[in-house]
Amino acid sequence: MEMNRARRQYWTVTVSLEPAVGEIVALILRRAGALGIQEIDDQRELRLIAYFATPVSAASIERECRRALRLAEFSPSALFSVKVEPLVERDWLQTWKRGYRPFAVGRRFLIAPSWESPPAAGDRLLITIDPGMAFGTGTHETTRQCLLALEKYWGGRSLLDVGTGTGILAIAAAKLSPTARIVAVDIDPAAGRVARENFAANGVAGRVALIIGSIDRIRQETFEMVMANLTTATIQRLMPGLIDHVEPGGYLVLSGILDEEESQMRHLILESALELTECDRTGEWRTFTARRPVSSTR
Ligand SMILES: C[S@@+](CC[C@H](N)C(=O)[O-])C[C@H]1O[C@@H](n2cnc3c(N)ncnc32)[C@H](O)[C@@H]1O
Repeated sequence: MEMNRARRQYWTVTVSLEPAVGEIVALILRRAGALGIQEIDDQRELRLIAYFATPVSAASIERECRRALRLAEFSPSALFSVKVEPLVERDWLQTWKRGYRPFAVGRRFLIAPSWESPPAAGDRLLITIDPGMAFGTGTHETTRQCLLALEKYWGGRSLLDVGTGTGILAIAAAKLSPTARIVAVDIDPAAGRVARENFAANGVAGRVALIIGSIDRIRQETFEMVMANLTTATIQRLMPGLIDHVEPGGYLVLSGILDEEESQMRHLILESALELTECDRTGEWRTFTARRPVSSTR
């Protein structure tokens, strides 16, 4: 479950359907703006409960789902019902918190909720998170893809985390390399508060510099890796500034890109004279890792 803005009111959309069409309907719900989706499977029917931060119309969700089912050559009658209900924040958070359990990411990380006693991490690095109302629990594909890129390509000297949310990527970096220079930035002051608490809970508060504002607030400084898990539109807007902060030979990791935006992002990377290193494709999400050429000057 992911969420990215502090709001008082949420809505649930409960869709009952045949289990075979669950994936298609979940995709439609995510594209309609669902912050997270819970599945309840009772064999004969599947119920998807999707959480929204803005009001949604049952009729338009139903129409979109039936259209997608027809396109995928399923019978539209595989969708039984769609119900929209308002939800008070506390219920939603409590329900969600119960489902957030410790889980491993990549070879190095173990992520766990910070409100439970810490699990045995073995040789993994434990990252404890309380997301509050910020994005970055580690369960979202884009965050996982960034964590994988971090452990694969980062040499452990310096990292700029643009759009830090809960601070999860900065914490992972600080745990991987205790001597690294790490700067985390977010335009949302609420996310900043959450990140600060997570930095403290993970014992890395003194090792991550947190900036609330846009990347213009970062002084002229280059990093071995810049990570930006944002959206394609925001990345496009910030691209020159992001590249300016990558040292020659360093990496830029771009995430939050939907499958249909892949070629647009590929062009942007190549136009920006970066060398494409990897495009990680998981489900509908794409994460690009690109390298600033050693000889480049900007
Ligand atoms: C998808 S979340 C990523 C959180 C975390 N880094 C992760 O990977 O899970 C994006 C975050 O970027 C922040 N953000 C959006 N636009 C931004 C901008 N122009 N500059 C800095 N942060 C931004 C949002 O407030 C949000 O916290």
